[in-house]
Amino acid sequence: MEQWIITTTALVKEKMAQDGTGHDWWHVHRVRNLALTIACEEGANLTVVELAALLHDVWDHKLYDGDLTVAPREARRWLEQLGVPAADTHEIVTIIERISFKGAHVPDAPLSLAGQCVQDADRLDAMGAIGIARTFAYGGSKGRLLYDPNHPPTLHDNFAAYAGSTAPTINHFYEKLLLLKDRMHTSTAKRMAEKRHAFMEAYLEQFYQEWEGKK
Ligand code: ADP
Ligand code: NI
Repeated sequence: MEQWIITTTALVKEKMAQDGTGHDWWHVHRVRNLALTIACEEGANLTVVELAALLHDVWDHKLYDGDLTVAPREARRWLEQLGVPAADTHEIVTIIERISFKGAHVPDAPLSLAGQCVQDADRLDAMGAIGIARTFAYGGSKGRLLYDPNHPPTLHDNFAAYAGSTAPTINHFYEKLLLLKDRMHTSTAKRMAEKRHAFMEAYLEQFYQEWEGKK
């Protein structure tokens, strides 16, 4: 089992070394560590958590023209090749399929306890100081404005509209980041989310004051 982790880590490092959108190897490294911390508290299956955390963004739809079928197919192939038992493979593939945020008004699909730990960890890394950095890195990589007071946020009710948005980066706070605190599953992550949420709110307050030339 240790060998599965070593081989999978090598795959992910190689595939995600160079990325300027906030989805680089270090995102995966943080999510893996956070997910394991949460999973220890919650008593989840650590092997499933670690493999799902490592593989959750390798075949992201954003790299494959929005194709959502690549990730489950490639993840299954990888896990079968490693010799991971069928039940664990099924659970990990389902986590990878369901982990993404799909819009403010799109409910999350149900996840196993291991899946909840990984989704909570992925979402914690979208919040707080690191979440803010990743969001502006992503917006910059897509050539987006920082902010446009004339362009209000949209609470999307389907994934295509959410994923196809070209709105200024500040809008993403209202369309996703500030909603995450109330979409955490585990009590461990709910606690951790409080501080990161408060930091984003303070950040936005300062941002608007500077925008108006008041600070
Ligand atoms: P998930 O991890 O739920 O699949 P994504 O991969 O879509 O979500 O997004 C992960 C991170 O990428 C976001 O938390 C944010 O930092 C950045 N990001 C994604 N979409 C946008 C966007 N439209 N504007 C700014 N940042 C974005
Ligand atoms: Ni992620």
